[in-house]
Amino acid sequence: MMSAGGDAAFRALLQQLGEAQDLRVDAYKDSCLRRRVAVRMRACGVHTYNDYARRIREDGDECDRFLAALTINVTKFYRNADMWDFVLGSVLPELLEARGNAIRCWSAGCASGEEAYTLAVLLLEGAGRTRMDPLHGPCIDATDLDPRSLQTAADARYPEEAFGEMPRTLVARYFPPEGREHDVRAVAGEVRELVRFQRHDLTREPPIDPPYDLILFRNVVIYFQRVMQERIFATMAHALNPGGTLVLGKVETLFGSACDLLRKRNVRERVYRRP
Ligand SMILES: C[S@@+](CC[C@H](N)C(=O)[O-])C[C@H]1O[C@@H](n2cnc3c(N)ncnc32)[C@H](O)[C@@H]1O
Repeated sequence: MMSAGGDAAFRALLQQLGEAQDLRVDAYKDSCLRRRVAVRMRACGVHTYNDYARRIREDGDECDRFLAALTINVTKFYRNADMWDFVLGSVLPELLEARGNAIRCWSAGCASGEEAYTLAVLLLEGAGRTRMDPLHGPCIDATDLDPRSLQTAADARYPEEAFGEMPRTLVARYFPPEGREHDVRAVAGEVRELVRFQRHDLTREPPIDPPYDLILFRNVVIYFQRVMQERIFATMAHALNPGGTLVLGKVETLFGSACDLLRKRNVRERVYRRP
């Protein structure tokens, strides 16, 4: 197979992509970048980094397509059910008891919104269970780099398949069916009201409105270089209120200076607590 070009051509291409998208490409793992560039080059039918660089200069939309390829936004409602069961059963009762309506949460790297809406549902469920007043105003900041995912989140309509892991009682209670075939579900107003979506780059911007009581940071950090992972973990730890909780993805583990601030709370579900 013909070589796509040397390292210098690859680095020049990355610099061009970074400048065009105002993106810190050096924050991402090299392997991740190489795979995504290869995917886009195949789709464009070009064989060298220099040719792909030329394509980007000539076709303004190609940069957006590269960003879409880089920001893998696979997600689901109630993804990793055991983690959500733990949040509902152990984390939220404690936080709602301590903070009530003042509770503040952050879904960092929220993709198309399923994670943030799942949390909103569980807050409503948890608040009901502890017989609190209904929650007022948005208490969940949901952020992502990818504007197209954020648009899907704002539209708040999802195909039936997106709810495969969520308990059916919750689906029926908070996501009324829509459409002629009833194959789409809308997010109920009381759920939407709790979430505020915003574009945000974890690699270059501070948290938007700390401190938080609960941060969900799942299945995002795996794409970053180790140095960047450590830096963001530390930022998250500092962004938590005392008593606050950080949840990582199923295969992610905390390391670095964040470990000085946080204690393991549930090792299996990657849940950490700031004492
Ligand atoms: C696999 S999704 C995770 C979605 C959700 N947290 C979950 O676990 O189901 C990863 C998300 O990270 C986002 N992402 C990638 N780089 C980012 C960055 N620098 N800042 C913010 N979000 C980023 C992507 O756009 C994508 O939506």
